[in-house]
Amino acid sequence: MKGLILSGGKGTRLYPLTYTRAKQLIPVANKPVLVRVIEAIHEANVDEIGIVVGHTEPEIRQALGDGSQWGVKLTYIPQDSPDGLAHAVRISQDFLQGSPFVMFLGDNVIEGGISELIKDFATNEWNSQIVLKQVENPSAYGVAKLRQDGSIEYLVEKPKDPPSDLALVGIYMFDENIFEAVNTIKPSARGEYEITDAIQWLIDNGRTVFPHVHQGWWIDTGKPTDMLEANSLVLEELTPTIADTAEIDEASVLDSRVTVQPGAKITNSIVRGPTVIGENTVIENCYIGPFTSIYHDVQVVNCEIEHSIILENSSVINIDQRLRDSLIGRNATVEQADKKPSGIKMTLGDHSHLWV
Ligand code: TTP
Repeated sequence: MKGLILSGGKGTRLYPLTYTRAKQLIPVANKPVLVRVIEAIHEANVDEIGIVVGHTEPEIRQALGDGSQWGVKLTYIPQDSPDGLAHAVRISQDFLQGSPFVMFLGDNVIEGGISELIKDFATNEWNSQIVLKQVENPSAYGVAKLRQDGSIEYLVEKPKDPPSDLALVGIYMFDENIFEAVNTIKPSARGEYEITDAIQWLIDNGRTVFPHVHQGWWIDTGKPTDMLEANSLVLEELTPTIADTAEIDEASVLDSRVTVQPGAKITNSIVRGPTVIGENTVIENCYIGPFTSIYHDVQVVNCEIEHSIILENSSVINIDQRLRDSLIGRNATVEQADKKPSGIKMTLGDHSHLWV
C-alpha cells in the first residue's frame, strides 16, 4: 500500500494567511495539519508516500524534507495548476502504479486515525473504499446517496439540493481501476477534474466502491472557523506535558490540561486548558485559554485570550478586551494604541477580517 497526500490547491478560503503560507502547514495544537496527516498514514504502516504540491512546494519541501523525521519516504509530485483532486491522481499515476493506495487531503484532520480503514481495504476485494460522515451542511461537500442495502447509488459534488447528509471525508482508498476513471472523466462545470466523478465512473462501470460511515469527528480545515474547531478537538485529545526547560513562576497558575513547550516563559499568568504554549513563547500578566494554541516565539503581555490560534513570532500586547475566536498569522502585532487622538488604527492584509 502507498499513500498520496494532496497538498497543492489555492487555499482561497483562508486568505490572507494563505497568501504567504501553505494552508496545510498551519498548525493545530501547535503541529501542522500536514504533519498530522503524515503521522496518521505512518501509523497505518504505510511509509511510501507521494505528496502532490503546487505553488507552495518550496515551503512544503523545507518543512518536510524527505520525510525521514517521521519514518516515511516522501516523493514530491508537482501539479502545474490546481485542476482538481482527480487531476492530482492522474499526475501521480507513475508513482502509484502497481500498488493500491490511500489518498488523504493534506488539510483534513480525523479522529482515531486510519489504521482500521486501511486494514479493511487490504482484507477485502473492493476496488475503492470511501469515507462518509454525517454533516449539517452537506451542500459544502461531495455528497453520497446510499441505497437501502447500504451500497452507493450516486455521488454529487457540492449539491444545491443535497440528496443526503453524508459528506465525503477527504480520505479515499483505490486500486489501479481509478486510473481508467481519472483518465476518462471530463472537467466539471467549475473546471475541475472531480474525484466524485471518478468514483461515480467506478460505480457506473461495475467496480466495487465500499462506503464506510465514520462515527468520530472529522474537520476539513478550509476556513478559519474550521481551523479553530480542529484546534479545540485536537487540544482535547492532547496528553499535557510541561517541558523541563519551560520557566513558570510561582505567581502563575496552570491547570492540568496545559502543555508548555521547551523554553516557554510564563509569568504572573493564569492558563486554562486545554491549551498549548509554544517554544520560547513569553506570557506575562495574562489570562490564556481554554482552547488556545500559541505557537513558537510569540510574546503575549497584559492580555486575555481564549479559543484562538496565534502563529509564530507574533505579539499581542496590552489589549483591554478579551481576544477570542481569533486566528492571528505569523509576525503580526496586536497592541494598544496609547497616543491621542483615540481611535482604532490598523494595517490589515488583503482579505483580512476584523471585528470591533
Ligand atoms: P480544497 O480545499 O478543495 O481546495 P483549495 O486548497 O484550493 O482551497 P480553496 O477552496 O479555499 O481555494 O482542496 C483540498 C485539498 O486538496 C487541499 O489540501 C489542497 C489539495 N488540492 C490539490 O492538491 N490539488 C488540487 O487540484 C486541488 C483542487 C486541491
